[in-house]
Formats: sequence, structure tokens, C-alpha cells
Amino acid sequence: MESASALLGRFVLDLRTVVGRWVGPQKPTFSARSPRAWRVPGPAQTAGLGGRELEIVGRSAAGAGAVTLTLRDPSGAKIRFTPGQFFSVLVEVDGAPLRRAYSAASSALVEDALELTIKEVDGGRVSGLLNRSARAGDRLRVLGPSGSFTVTPTPGARRRLLLIAGGSGITPMMSIIRTILAVEAETEIALIYGNRDEASILYREALAGLAAEFTGRLTVRLALEQPPEGWPGAVGRLVSEVLTPELIGLPWPVLSASGCYLCGPEPLLRAARAALVGLGIEEETIHEERFTRPEQRAEAPARASVATRLTLRRAGGETEVIAAAGATLLEAGLAAGLAMPFSCGLGGCGACKVRLVDGEVALEEPNCLSAEERAGGFVLACVAAPLRPCTIEVPA
Ligand code: FES
Repeated sequence: MESASALLGRFVLDLRTVVGRWVGPQKPTFSARSPRAWRVPGPAQTAGLGGRELEIVGRSAAGAGAVTLTLRDPSGAKIRFTPGQFFSVLVEVDGAPLRRAYSAASSALVEDALELTIKEVDGGRVSGLLNRSARAGDRLRVLGPSGSFTVTPTPGARRRLLLIAGGSGITPMMSIIRTILAVEAETEIALIYGNRDEASILYREALAGLAAEFTGRLTVRLALEQPPEGWPGAVGRLVSEVLTPELIGLPWPVLSASGCYLCGPEPLLRAARAALVGLGIEEETIHEERFTRPEQRAEAPARASVATRLTLRRAGGETEVIAAAGATLLEAGLAAGLAMPFSCGLGGCGACKVRLVDGEVALEEPNCLSAEERAGGFVLACVAAPLRPCTIEVPA
């Protein structure tokens, strides 16, 4: 294991974009059971760009090629988030500062411990390091929580939620399931979870335990591309032809779902959306979390090799700063002591969105900006570096 300090890092890469909105009332009927209380989390980001330091206090195998790390704040401070959100883990590998986003898998009701499950991906420098070397007692720097792929626990709510996940896309779903079923005594959740083979299934025992604990309120359907003999679940990749019968076979009508949450690789998201829309689900009720692995990213555009003048407008005022060579808009603003909004630091949450009034930036792609935001001249300060003198408008 690298030393704790070697795991500390600053920037770059990996992102997850979050798309979709939430709509739709519906009224299933259930008998009430004792719900857990829920408090609204405080501000999402209280640390600087360097994040906060958390200690690994537990490590366990989470399935084939995946590890679950349990983290605590050594100061005893709470770790608060809304189910579905992710944290950016900052590490340094071979001298290169890297960032990766991992969804919280633990219940948001447990505020003194955070569970992250990290699946090792082919050629993944960070996932490989964490899988092979992270040990109890090591410390990691994290930013966040970030992201709007969330389900806000609502005591007294009576709703039906449909979750569709592939591979490591199960992690935010675990937090949603664990939290929502505990807080909302009359809510039902159905999960359809696809994997390549049996060994790839993450949280299999935990899901079985939750289904037993919340009998009648949690339905779990597993699908495998390469099933063992006698496999009782669905067979095949989660394409529309496989998903549609699974959706129709749920214990409650898909159309009664007030929200559909999708997390996994791009082909799964497309297939799930098509299957849901084909069954009459309105697009507005579908929420997606999309992962882009660093290897899939376009090569980062070249940044300026000299310091650049940057003018920041905010609430009618204007401040001029000098951005160091290669610095992002966010780094430049923070270095000058300005209160710049941000959260994930890797282009995946939109919290640092600013409008480019004048000038030109090198913007890392892909990122979470929508077509409308791009057309409106917005850029993400955490992954945009000025190429020549720029003026930006920072939201008040
Ligand atoms: S801080 Fe999340 S996109 Fe920039």
C-alpha cells in the first residue's frame, strides 16, 4: 500500500453526468411500519479543492474484482449526503494527481461512516490501487458529496420507485434502497440488476437480506448474460427485449412508478429508457446517472503555458485575477480568495457552472453540461482552463 500521503492528490478525470428530472405522484397502499427520521443534509461542500481527509476503518471483498471501503472522519465529524450522491476520491498515482467518482452505497442515515464500493476496471489506475492496496488505517482525501441523481427521503411518502442498474451502477441504488425503505414506511422499490455472470454480482447477500427485511416492499430481479445452469433470473444483457418482460412481470404496474432511476453503462441506459418509454413511462420521470471511464475520455485539450488574465463578474462587481499557467478557472478563482461554487471537481455535477462572457477556454470532455447550457455560453470552472484573457460571470 502506498503511504497515506501518497494517496493524497489534487485533480482530474473520471466523471459521471447526471441527467433527468423528477415528476409524478402516485398512491400505492401499504400498512405503515416505524419509519426512521431524516434530516436535510447541510452544505454539500465544506472543504477546499483538496477535499477532507477520511480514514479507512474497514475493507471487505464486494464480489469479483471489487472492494468495499468503510471510511470515517478521524475528527468525528459527520459525513452527510443524500442517497444517490457520489464522492470524488483524490489520489496520487506515480506522481500523477487523479480523481475518481464513487457513489455512496451506505445508508444516508448512518452519518459516522461512509461505504464506497470500488470495482477494478481494466487499466484503472485508481480502482486498481484501491482494490489492491487500500488498508484499514490508510487515509484518503475526498470531495463531495456531489450530484443530483438523488432520491430525497420524505417521511410519510407513499410511492413506488423503479431502479435499473448494471454492474457497479448498483452502488447508488444500494444507498437509495437502504435509506428510502427505512425512512418511508409505505414506499415500495423494485430493482432490476444486470451483470455478466454470477461472480460479477455486487451486494448479492445484502440485497437478499434487504428483500427479506422489507418483504413485499423490495423486489429484486437479477439478470445474467452468462448464467449458470438452472439460473432462476432473467438471461441476457439488459436490452429492451430482456427488460420489457422483466418490467411487465414486476409485482406492481410500471406505470405506477413515480420515478425511474437508471445507472450503468451507456448501452444499458439507452435500452432501459427505450423499454420504459415503450411501456408508456413519461420521459420526465426517468433519471439517469452516466459513467464515463477515464480511458473513454477524449484527450484533455492543451492548456495555456503562460499565466492568463481572468476577469470574474459577480453580483454586479468585477474582480481581476491572474490564472497561473495551466490553472482552471476554479483554481484561479480560489487561489485569489474568491468564493467560487464547486463540489465534485471533476466535471460531473455542474455546481461550478459559470458563463463565459469573453475569451476562450480549454474544456475537458465529456462533462455534464447540457446542450442548452453550452448554447447559453456556460462552462464548468473545474475543468475549463483559460487559453487567453477571459471574462466569466459567476452565479451570485
Ligand atoms: S465541481 Fe462538479 S462539475 Fe465542477
